[in-house]
Amino acid sequence: MKENRTVLVTGGLGYIGSHTAVEFINKGYNVVIVDNLGNSRIEVLDGIESITAVRPHFYKIDITQKEELDRVFKDHPEIDSVIHFAAWKAVGESVNKPLKYYDNNLNGMASVLEAMTNNNCHNLVFSSSCTVYGQPDVLPVTEAAPIKEALSPYGFTKQVCETMIKDVVKSKDDLKTIALRYFNPIGAHESALIGELPLGVPDNLIPFVTQTAYGIREQLSVFGDDYNTEDGTAVRDYIHVTDLAKAHVAAIERLIDNKNNDTFEVFNVGTGKGNSVLEVVNTFEQVTGEKLNYKIVDRRAGDIEKVWADTAFAEKNLGWKAELTLADALKSAWEWEKYIRAED
Ligand code: UD1
Repeated sequence: MKENRTVLVTGGLGYIGSHTAVEFINKGYNVVIVDNLGNSRIEVLDGIESITAVRPHFYKIDITQKEELDRVFKDHPEIDSVIHFAAWKAVGESVNKPLKYYDNNLNGMASVLEAMTNNNCHNLVFSSSCTVYGQPDVLPVTEAAPIKEALSPYGFTKQVCETMIKDVVKSKDDLKTIALRYFNPIGAHESALIGELPLGVPDNLIPFVTQTAYGIREQLSVFGDDYNTEDGTAVRDYIHVTDLAKAHVAAIERLIDNKNNDTFEVFNVGTGKGNSVLEVVNTFEQVTGEKLNYKIVDRRAGDIEKVWADTAFAEKNLGWKAELTLADALKSAWEWEKYIRAED
């Protein structure tokens, strides 16, 4: 019975955190959210409530403040699992402000592990990234691929956090952990009541696409068409955020049911399919009927050429696989863009 289970979601008002909170509530879990609102909005709580008819417990705290995080566990001794999202995530910013990333992402991870240990909480799912593979030598990339030198401080924090978890697990008998390595999460909840809301000019492709279609940005720059790919533009594995959210439920249930083979496991969370930037542009135009103003410009520094996931390990062991398509994801991202602009 999962109904009486309580899961703590750090960064639960962020993009992936909010969609994950919804999936857990839909499965009957109690959800406690902590978020410092550093890159999210309090209104997201209303969105979660409108979708699920449940308002999760919410604490506006910074997880690096150890006493405050500890207080949440003391208030909710029933918390038996944690999903840790709370971290800065902008690759470019991390290059310019590395200490902001090391300070928050690494101290946040340490604080979460310490609070769990002090409060007898045994199950952790960590939000990692395919960025740990860099440009893989073999595609699709499996979980056994080597960790490459990080291309950014952001990427390095994901590698270090995985190592921190591994080290803490070795020193404890009763901690079970899973790192989910996300490929490129996109899209929004089917209700269009929650979605991705970047502050300022978006770095990521899909928000830039939807904002350009809406007229907020004049033109989308496609970064490079001279890659060694079919149409010359870079290839990524775009995964619908709802599928991604469901992978967290599968991961927590694997830990709760003691089905894990190791106390630190890693799973790729992608679709197994690569799409080029131009395929994304064309699919967006097809599913929305909107024309996108774009032009090809130089490559973006630090971008890799191509990556997509080998999903066999997750399918077999997590019993999870992506079900929604690129078209579904782009359509939902467009519905969300229209909804949020109408709200403003
Ligand atoms: C990056 C990170 C990833 C992180 C993700 C979300 C790396 C290697 N990857 O992924 O870990 O989870 O951000 O924050 O650190 N593009 C354009 N025009 C644009 C924007 C993007 O052509 O205006 C192209 C990019 O060159 C790339 C693709 O679209 O080929 C996807 O870019 P983006 O959405 O920024 O994600 P990644 O860089 O793949």
